[in-house]
Amino acid sequence: MIEWSAATISDFQTTLLAWFDEAGRDLPWRHDHDPYHIWVSEIMLQQTQVQTVIPYYERFMTWFPTIDALATAPEDRLLKAWEGLGYYSRVRNMQRCARQLLADYEGQWPRTAAELVELVGIGPYTAGAIASIAFNEPVPAVDGNAYRVFSRLLEIDADIAKPQTRLIFERAITKIISPTRPGDFNQAIMDLGASYMTARQPDTAHSPVKRFNQAYLDGKELDYPVKTKKPRPQPVAYVAVVVKQADQWLMTQRPSQGMLANLWTVPLIKVADLALADAYTPTELITAVQLYFQQEYQLKVTVAPLSVRPVTHTFTHQKWTIQLLAGTTESTDLAYFAGKLVTTNALTQLPTPKVQAKIWDRYAQREK
Ligand code: ADE
Repeated sequence: MIEWSAATISDFQTTLLAWFDEAGRDLPWRHDHDPYHIWVSEIMLQQTQVQTVIPYYERFMTWFPTIDALATAPEDRLLKAWEGLGYYSRVRNMQRCARQLLADYEGQWPRTAAELVELVGIGPYTAGAIASIAFNEPVPAVDGNAYRVFSRLLEIDADIAKPQTRLIFERAITKIISPTRPGDFNQAIMDLGASYMTARQPDTAHSPVKRFNQAYLDGKELDYPVKTKKPRPQPVAYVAVVVKQADQWLMTQRPSQGMLANLWTVPLIKVADLALADAYTPTELITAVQLYFQQEYQLKVTVAPLSVRPVTHTFTHQKWTIQLLAGTTESTDLAYFAGKLVTTNALTQLPTPKVQAKIWDRYAQREK
């Protein structure tokens, strides 16, 4: 890791902020410094790209314009606002945080990163982003962009997969951050990370901070950041059974704990939970699924194959491969089933995960 002189630091700040003033992105959450706006955008942006976030952000602000509106929102509305974004615990924690602000802070945001990090769902990155952007506190906001940008600028070779590494970056950035415009400084780093200093195809030749980029100057840009590999997501096989009853669809709500908690899908059964040997024929699969509906839910469902490719969906720790089946039933007694029959119109009201959208898309491709 290299160290910059005071003169280099000052030169870098001036160069970076001049570029940001001219070329920084015009994004909806940059139109003011309202901490609520900054917070919502930063939580959305944690696992999701800017272009995807924009419409979600705008709708969220019309549905929940204030902390009060968010604190009192019904859960299905909350999940609907987040539908397709993934990592749904983010939005549940946001509601808990909104309630915490009302209960313990008279609805007023604390103004320092040290206090913000005490709130539900706000980690060091989000605390730094809110404190610097909304309240002008000169603190770093270390996300993937900052790791990439500063590891290259300073040739920091600490492994960013290790939690302790955050401190190394925070110390280094604290020395460099603009004391007068810390929020713009942090956002300029994000914009650099999304433009000239991307992970795989950086365009440093045209970058405004090219001459500060030690890794580039040494021809080693793609060696940074240093990151050890995470374990691969584990494969899990499922069947999804699209069951029709007259003009209604059988939908189930997932348990309130665990993955995709409380979201709605068609019945999804782990193949490992079916009465099947390691190798099985399509007919054996269908028989096992019918037996499962009978035994688990007391439902008589007639199952048929669907000639569509399986749906795949990757979560942080699991990769699902989902074979689709079609089903029909005459039963309407759902006493043993955690779900309900829903008309096509009412389907759009239910909060559903992205994997369910994929299942509907694939179902629409079946031969009729
Ligand atoms: N990524 C994370 N936070 C961001 C922000 N405020 N602007 C643009 N990209 C971001």
